[in-house]
Amino acid sequence: MHDESSPKNRTSPVRFGVLGTGRITRRLVADLQSTDGVEVTAIASRTAERAKWYADQFGIAAGIAGYDALIKREDVDAVYIALPPSMHAEWSIGAAAQKKHILCEKPLTVSCEEADALDRACRENQVRWLDATGWLHHERTETFAKWIAEKHFGEIGHISAAVSFYQPFQSDEHRLDPKLGGGCLLDLGWYSGGLIRFVTGKMPTAIYADSVIREGVPQRITAMMWFDNNVTATLSCGYDTASRKWFEVAGSVSSLICDDFTRPWADRPARCWVHDAAGTAQEHSFEGQQQERRMIAKLISDEPLESLQRQALDTQRIIDAMEESIRQEQRIVI
Ligand SMILES: NC(=O)c1ccc[n+]([C@@H]2O[C@H](COP(=O)([O-])OP(=O)(O)OC[C@H]3O[C@@H](n4cnc5c(N)ncnc54)[C@H](OP(=O)(O)O)[C@@H]3O)[C@@H](O)[C@H]2O)c1
Repeated sequence: MHDESSPKNRTSPVRFGVLGTGRITRRLVADLQSTDGVEVTAIASRTAERAKWYADQFGIAAGIAGYDALIKREDVDAVYIALPPSMHAEWSIGAAAQKKHILCEKPLTVSCEEADALDRACRENQVRWLDATGWLHHERTETFAKWIAEKHFGEIGHISAAVSFYQPFQSDEHRLDPKLGGGCLLDLGWYSGGLIRFVTGKMPTAIYADSVIREGVPQRITAMMWFDNNVTATLSCGYDTASRKWFEVAGSVSSLICDDFTRPWADRPARCWVHDAAGTAQEHSFEGQQQERRMIAKLISDEPLESLQRQALDTQRIIDAMEESIRQEQRIVI
């Protein structure tokens, strides 16, 4: 489909500017720089010294002091936003007003009101947006979608998803600051809630969630969700157990198990198993292209993004509903 607002219709290569110089920036800048048709022309930091240092490190022409100066630059067509979650909406909306396309880190924002405002700003300014949720763009994910559509596992009855890591944080970590959108609900609930939304393709009809709060932010979340047709889901995420990035889709014929869905391990192919009623576990592995480069390529293509955007907006709604359930200490009907 031809899309007038596609970055490819503005200039080639698409010139990215980067906001923030944190941990994920290091990885994503390398992905941007190694994606066909993309150039990184500028990087901004709160301080001029840091911006200059990172620009030199990454081989980027301009290191800019302040995010506002970057989003107004004429040599920037698209902006990659790698800031703490509470800053995603403000800078995405600001960049959209400058007619820049948006690649925004997950979680998209901190609430569905903010997420809707971001979506609206991009539509009004005719720019494209994606959240940087890499796993949705892996080739393996297309196989999951095909299997689910073909009822490969029979009727799906239950989904469970768990994402966690164990990390003693530094005191200045944004994940521990409620004002910056800290806590595992937004950070890791984005993956596990998003996986459940991806499998069901819809919003739950009810949610119950509970949290373990430490240092003012949720550090563990346990939730249950109900969907039409008696489909149920359970979610677990947190900062206080060793790395988990897995899910189970339980069907009437077989179950799909995947233990590396958010990001396959660097030293081995992406994998999953289909377990049947007779105890056979068939392993599938996927070499495939790198998920972040495929995500960037999609943003700068002419392909429609609506279904990915709907996935992100619904994930934000699921997180809001979990938050509301925790606040009210009861099951929330949606
Ligand atoms: N997609 C993924 O796989 C993935 C993985 C990890 C993280 N993330 C997401 O990426 C975003 C950034 O995470 P990160 O781990 O890269 O964080 P980080 O290392 O703390 O970096 C965040 C950057 O934001 C800027 N910033 C502006 N105001 C800030 C403030 N008040 N406190 C802290 N930093 C501030 C800083 O850059 P300057 O000082 O240079 O301005 C900082 O380097 C989060 O939304 C996170 O969920 C995504």
